[in-house]
Amino acid sequence: MSDVVTLSNRNGVAVVTLQNPPVNGLGFAVRTGLEAALRAATDDDTVQALVITGDGKMFSGGADIREFGQPPPDGTPPLPMLIDTIEASDKPVIAAIHGVALGGGCEVALGCHVRLATPDARVGLPEVTLGILPGAGGTQRMPRLVGIPAALDLIVNGKLVPAKKALALGIIDDIVEGDIVDAAVAHARRMVSENLPIRRASALDDKVVEARGTPEVFDDFRKTMARRARGFEAPFACVDCVEAAVNLPFAEGIVTERARFRELVASDQSKAQRHAFFAERQVTKIPDVPKSTPTLSLDTAAVIGCGTMGGGIAMNFANAGIPVTVFEVSQEALDKGLDVIRKNYAATVSKRRLSQNEMDQRLSLISTTVDYADLATVDVVVEAVFEDMALKKEVFGKLDTACKPGAILATNTSTLDVDEIAAATNRPDKVIGTHFFSPANVMKLMENVRGEQSSPETIATIMKLSKAIGKVGVLVGVCDGFVGNRMLYAYRRQSDFLLEEGALPAQIDKVIYDFGMPMGPYAMGDLAGLDVGWRIRQQQAATRPPHLRYSTVADHVCELGRFGQKTGAGWFRYEEGSRTPIPDPIVDELILKISQENGFTRREVGDQEILERCMYPLVNEGAKILEEGLAQRASDIDVIWMYGYGFPRFRGGPMFWADLVGVQTIYDTMSRLHDEHGDWLEPAPLLKRIAEQGKGFRDL
Ligand SMILES: NC(=O)c1ccc[n+]([C@@H]2O[C@H](COP(=O)([O-])OP(=O)(O)OC[C@H]3O[C@@H](n4cnc5c(N)ncnc54)[C@H](O)[C@@H]3O)[C@@H](O)[C@H]2O)c1
Repeated sequence: MSDVVTLSNRNGVAVVTLQNPPVNGLGFAVRTGLEAALRAATDDDTVQALVITGDGKMFSGGADIREFGQPPPDGTPPLPMLIDTIEASDKPVIAAIHGVALGGGCEVALGCHVRLATPDARVGLPEVTLGILPGAGGTQRMPRLVGIPAALDLIVNGKLVPAKKALALGIIDDIVEGDIVDAAVAHARRMVSENLPIRRASALDDKVVEARGTPEVFDDFRKTMARRARGFEAPFACVDCVEAAVNLPFAEGIVTERARFRELVASDQSKAQRHAFFAERQVTKIPDVPKSTPTLSLDTAAVIGCGTMGGGIAMNFANAGIPVTVFEVSQEALDKGLDVIRKNYAATVSKRRLSQNEMDQRLSLISTTVDYADLATVDVVVEAVFEDMALKKEVFGKLDTACKPGAILATNTSTLDVDEIAAATNRPDKVIGTHFFSPANVMKLMENVRGEQSSPETIATIMKLSKAIGKVGVLVGVCDGFVGNRMLYAYRRQSDFLLEEGALPAQIDKVIYDFGMPMGPYAMGDLAGLDVGWRIRQQQAATRPPHLRYSTVADHVCELGRFGQKTGAGWFRYEEGSRTPIPDPIVDELILKISQENGFTRREVGDQEILERCMYPLVNEGAKILEEGLAQRASDIDVIWMYGYGFPRFRGGPMFWADLVGVQTIYDTMSRLHDEHGDWLEPAPLLKRIAEQGKGFRDL
């Protein structure tokens, strides 16, 4: 028939098989092949029924994302039309689903008259995660099969459901053990011999009729998702389409779906979310550490220091089923640390996101010690003691002696030189940074910091570890702040300068929040605590270059004993038991006073200026990092910012966003800002170069 779609005739039942590994993606060639197969089966009088199935691991993973935005070769049938053909067939069509039927794959199945699935199959419409919606009838057929609440949940949240749940919801008609195609063929024969009626999803009405004339159902749903989906366009378009399925005849609903799909697929948001999808897959590729690099086993772990970070890191191991030994300076410190871990788990249990049994199981994987000798057999150690070079060196020296020669010694330092720490051991090749983000048991990002001497095996093993504990590991190089925090400093510095020049914390926070970040820099600072940064700045005071501008605003806030939420006040004030930042006249007056003392005539600072002044330097720093080879690729920086700092996925990360804005625009603005405000804002050479070449970070 074709290379990618085959047709066989099993005594009157045509079996149409998608054969486009690895996921039977519904690209141009498959659609052309499918159309030919359907036509041949329809035209063949010996064929009485059809079965559609997928070869290999699954039914179909859906559309071929790489083809989005490309014009199809002449004559390629659009997927919606093919699905309409399937559904309109007078001969019964059965979907035989194994593995997954996702997105367009699921929509093909919804167009069939009967859906059978294996017990381990999963189905779903995850299009929304790519900034689009199911555009081949999914938003119209799914509600007719499962009703409104379930359809909204599936389509707006992009949820995959296992076969059993899919059966209960009415997405599939039966679960079959044994060979799925044999079962589907047998079912097809029965439909023919017993002359069973053909059921078409598009013609069903009973499940949508209930919600007809009740717009409040949808308005309420929009309200529930307002916070979760803030800034995203696709989830709201999905709701609109499901509402259309309720209120319009099928043919008209399809028109709405098509129009909204076209809008979304061409949007910057969808481009950004597709970029994010590929960026996440790129991140594991390390040119000088190929996939074939041997890795060490990770059967047991240790964590040194059970404070804020160590406790969370230990939980990560336990959550992944890896026994972990926690080491502390005293039994008292251990008790305190373990108590926090227990409370953390208990909170999850009380929210019903973990069973008591699971909590007990996880706690049983965490053992404690104050004796280095107990670490002799562990495979990997993550050190999370105070941020102090002398202390870290002492700890690494002791670990080097106590741990078996093959063990990897990782440090969670956020600012110190990994190479200097490695030099305190006789195994610098097995030393690496694992920079977790706080709270370490929640945040998905790990910046894995390769030292000068970290071996390929060590790097590959730590990347494997990230995956094993459910994190996104991004490989970075050694520099102050590594990738994420170094870029953060560049942005925070400018926001403090803006305070001196005329802005106030609430104004800056609002601009950044509206841009899509989870919170502005000042609410963020209050959440994280202001004292740590203050202490670091005090240590660095002597080495601060005198010619570079320095803002004392943050120091003055700390001098008032305002360390953020934990002291009830920081940049904002907080009411007892509340985390809502309230602008505080004390801070605003303090800022006005500092402006005056430093000779600034306060001026109106516009929202656009705030955005440019904060975000462009961040991008600029990213460009320097790329040029210095401290991140492997621009998209890795995007992953770091999406997972470590909540950079909005619908903007694709700072470097992708920079391309959308235009590198030329950013370069021009940085040049102007540099003229106006001096050194910190000097455009990075790489930024200049790609602007001059008319390129973007995507072209690097
Ligand atoms: N807090 C954050 O947001 C964050 C984020 C990323 C990285 N880090 C880094 O993680 C590390 C730990 O930070 P934290 O915030 O968890 O600090 P913390 O003060 O909460 O905890 C440090 C723990 O180390 C223990 N400790 C001190 N000396 C020790 C020793 N010799 N042996 C064993 N344990 C010892 C202390 O008793 C304490 O429990 C630091 O390097 C920090 O820079 C922190």
